[in-house]
Amino acid sequence: MNSVHNVDLTPFNTLALPGKAAAYRKITAPEQLTAPELAGQTRFILGGGSNLVLTGDFAGLVLHMAIPGKRLLKEDSEAFYIEAGAGENWHDFVQWTLQQGWPGLENLSLIPGTVGAAPIQNIGAYGLEVGECFHSLTAWDFEKQAFFPVDRDNCRFGYRDSVFKQEGWHLNGRMAITSVIFRHPKAWTPNLRYADVNQELAAQNITTPTAQDVAKAIVAVRQRKLPDPVVIPNTGSFFHNPVVEAAQAEALKASHPTLPCYPQPDGRVKLAAGWLIEQAGWKGKNLGPVGMYEKQALVLVNRGGATGDDVKRTMAAVQADVQARFGVALTPEPIFL
Ligand code: EPU
Repeated sequence: MNSVHNVDLTPFNTLALPGKAAAYRKITAPEQLTAPELAGQTRFILGGGSNLVLTGDFAGLVLHMAIPGKRLLKEDSEAFYIEAGAGENWHDFVQWTLQQGWPGLENLSLIPGTVGAAPIQNIGAYGLEVGECFHSLTAWDFEKQAFFPVDRDNCRFGYRDSVFKQEGWHLNGRMAITSVIFRHPKAWTPNLRYADVNQELAAQNITTPTAQDVAKAIVAVRQRKLPDPVVIPNTGSFFHNPVVEAAQAEALKASHPTLPCYPQPDGRVKLAAGWLIEQAGWKGKNLGPVGMYEKQALVLVNRGGATGDDVKRTMAAVQADVQARFGVALTPEPIFL
């Protein structure tokens, strides 16, 4: 399979930002990554493009991961082990596991993107992070020219973080994840740690929810708050929720009693970036064609025709205002190419 040249990447990033790849190749089977000509090039590994800010043209080779496949790998007395190709659509995969009777990932319903990208930033929502249901993955190392397995402990999962980000392997195109194995314990109880989900189930008079009920509730909550990227281009949360020292959180809480604070196991405190951005006046506000969404201030949206520079301008303005008002630095969640 050959690369195609000068490919428009606008349809491949959910912020719909313009930019061309000097070369582009769709990868539909792991063996295609072993082609010798791929090794010596500047690469970018693209999944669903839902966590990406395209800042312009890319002079290298974009490898678009489209490896399909999903199956029950094995089952023991305690758990189901389910394997999926990196290119599978995340939401479709989650719904398929539920239909098969293998609950566990329902709280991560409707997250855009692919299976292969999920571990990289340890996607999380509504009281669950993918690392909690993760068993292992297989990736191709372009430098060593070999496939290698990575188990859960070696992923070093954190809040929107993993070894793949920490070591820069993903961003510098060093490796490409080809498949992921999930472990779903058979002992299942609904994960209802999140108030919004409880409220949604209560509104539907569901007291003992099935995994499918939880998935439906989460889809409803997300659809209410988050814009559909097909309609309003976005990348979900644009900033991480900042984690600050307890003393700083206490001082902020004293002057701003409604600030949502989430104590962390290490003693630090996670703050709600959406709240900080809203208080800084950015909810529903635009700078040129890029603004912060009117129903969830943490979501940066392309109102139409934006470029990577427009995104950077709005991002910097929001960061500056939140810093000036609260002394808190916001770091972006998506990666910049
Ligand atoms: N808030 C505001 N104003 C806003 C937005 C939020 O005051 O405009 C307040 C809310 O009232 C709430 C708090 O901030 O008290 C948290 O808001 P929310 O529950 O909507 O969640 P979040 O912290 O903004 C995080 C994840 C989302 C995930 C939700 C639900 C991050 C960066 N984001 O958002 O993940 O869906 O929790 O678990 O951790 C994503 O990463 O792309 C993403 C959508």
